[in-house]
Amino acid sequence: MPSIDRRNLIAFLGGSAAVAGMTASARAEAMESYLAANLHSAAQAGSSPKRAPTVAELEAQIPTRTYRRGAGKLFAAEQGNVPLLAPMPAKPTLTDFIRLRFMGTSEHCLQSARLARQKNLDEDIVFACLIHDLSLNLMRTDHGFWGAQMFEPYVSEKVTFAVRHHATLRFFPDHEAGYEYPELYRTMFGSDYVVPAHQRAEYQMVRKHRWYMAPRLVTVNDLYSFEPGVKVSVDDFVDVIGRHFKQPKEGLGLDGSPVAHFWRSAANPDSPL
Ligand SMILES: [Fe+2]
Ligand SMILES: [Fe+2]
Repeated sequence: MPSIDRRNLIAFLGGSAAVAGMTASARAEAMESYLAANLHSAAQAGSSPKRAPTVAELEAQIPTRTYRRGAGKLFAAEQGNVPLLAPMPAKPTLTDFIRLRFMGTSEHCLQSARLARQKNLDEDIVFACLIHDLSLNLMRTDHGFWGAQMFEPYVSEKVTFAVRHHATLRFFPDHEAGYEYPELYRTMFGSDYVVPAHQRAEYQMVRKHRWYMAPRLVTVNDLYSFEPGVKVSVDDFVDVIGRHFKQPKEGLGLDGSPVAHFWRSAANPDSPL
């Protein structure tokens, strides 16, 4: 086991804020990338991390995995086996989903919301931060759009906009707003990664939109969503959820909405069909 320079590792992962925002499994995956990148130089104490992988190198890793990197966190374990899940209540609420199904990202989302609230940002932004990555449990690929769609019937248009576009804004720095390109993305997407044309076009549209700051503030609080030792409970946001989420009385997944199946899939991820 090579020795690890903690400071280099944290810098490699995008700083302490970025590290803390990661789930345990994401951290383990990032650590693995770090070790792989440092395989040859780790013997030298204090050596700086080696370069991030290229797009071609990341592509070569695809057939070495048992899952695809775009798979939702509920559906594939990055390491080991998936856990047995607790049953859902008869009429599940958003809070039930956060507690019982969206554990893969709930901590990160709650920390983001807490930070947004500390900065006295508008409550709809706090709420957008609270839900911004919950869709990663269903699907990681294009998660801004998946998230916007699953929440659209129950939240304001502006919150939907923030969730839909935050993922693309992550690739585009805004120095004035205090958002830089995450160093971690060089590892995740490749050092020579080029943002595809459809996302560049999306960025141009959002940049000029009157609600630009809504998804932008989600990205700003996404990066710096950590304070050591702080555990945030969903109980602290029950009031915010109550004001910004129209909970269907039949329960999420059972209300006949056009996206009810998103929620049913999250409630029953072990169903074979
Ligand atoms: Fe995200
Ligand atoms: Fe996030």
